[in-house]
Amino acid sequence: MSAARTFTLPDAVARLFDDELRDRLVELRRSLHAHPELSHQEHETARRLVEALVSLGVRDVKRCGATGVIARIPGRVAGSRAVAIRGDIDALPIQEATGLSFASQTPGVMHACGHDVHATWAVGAAALLQRDPAEHDVVVILQPAEEQGDGALSMIEAGALEGVSMIFGGHVDRRFAVGQVVADAGPLAASADTFEIELTGRGAHAARPHEAADPIVGAAALVSALQTIVARRLNPATAGVVTVGTIHAGTAPNVIPERATLGGTIRAIDGAARALMVDEVRRITEGVAATHRLDARVTFERGTPPIVNPERPIAIAREAVTALLCEPALVPLGTLNMAAEDFAYYLERIPGCFLRIGAREPGGEFVAAHSPKFHAAEEAIFVGAAVLAETARRAR
Ligand code: NI
Repeated sequence: MSAARTFTLPDAVARLFDDELRDRLVELRRSLHAHPELSHQEHETARRLVEALVSLGVRDVKRCGATGVIARIPGRVAGSRAVAIRGDIDALPIQEATGLSFASQTPGVMHACGHDVHATWAVGAAALLQRDPAEHDVVVILQPAEEQGDGALSMIEAGALEGVSMIFGGHVDRRFAVGQVVADAGPLAASADTFEIELTGRGAHAARPHEAADPIVGAAALVSALQTIVARRLNPATAGVVTVGTIHAGTAPNVIPERATLGGTIRAIDGAARALMVDEVRRITEGVAATHRLDARVTFERGTPPIVNPERPIAIAREAVTALLCEPALVPLGTLNMAAEDFAYYLERIPGCFLRIGAREPGGEFVAAHSPKFHAAEEAIFVGAAVLAETARRAR
């Protein structure tokens, strides 16, 4: 584990971690990475996290739901409202190809989104707050099933936010070097709603199309027509995505089938755009179906809301980053992230903010999250732990 001591970390972060704490956190991260578990199956992960927290002296640790963990670190003033730090803990159904010495030992499952690091920095933040407590209590929420988008809701339903006034979290990002942090007010992640469309026509012989109502031709027209929602209906100043991700129809080249099904996703960063795109998917589907003499059934599943970081919690996070890492550490996101993050469900209920934390090692390349080669630099553990602990300490 001496590798941890060769890390190049900003001094103000490095001095918070003695060799023993560094080694323990690196060991924890590597063991989580080597033994990844899918959403809602994080039993062994939760066990390891409880063990790590207890071994670091955190006394109030409990399991929450089937695979979540909640730890409470007492503040200096009893009875004040708590602030929360959230780390997500689940992995993805991907075969790892990083070549890391601590690569996944579970075939077809991998920490390809860095949640091994998020879980570890949350434990690290707990250790720092245990040594140097905030005025108020800090609750560390280790949340399962972020990738499925329902883990945050399961923790909230289990009472994770009771008595909590503000919540902070972050995600590793290899677009940024270790030591850089994105703490921008405004949109940081998009909403994610899904739709399913069933077009029903009249099947017939492929040689006699006039006897059919062809759902394949209707589906093709519909895919094109749906592109006009973003191109023609959405205000160009507002971001939005309508993607058809699945399309299924037909069984043989000489048969016009009865039915075609399509599935897709709608992404937005504000409520008005989100509502408009849902309405337009329904309206255009009904119109195109009528044109092609098809019946249409459209169903929507409302998913994660967008994350729009509010000013005040972001100001607290920016102060913490500046105090620890100096001003140049704060970098703009520089793009609009249209992926979703279920941290948004916490922000629907209480104030807080979500950060992107640089995870590219010196000389390292950009690797996309959810790729079989994705890994976060180990130094990010310490920056994440220090920034989140300091942010929680400064939050009121
Ligand atoms: Ni992720």
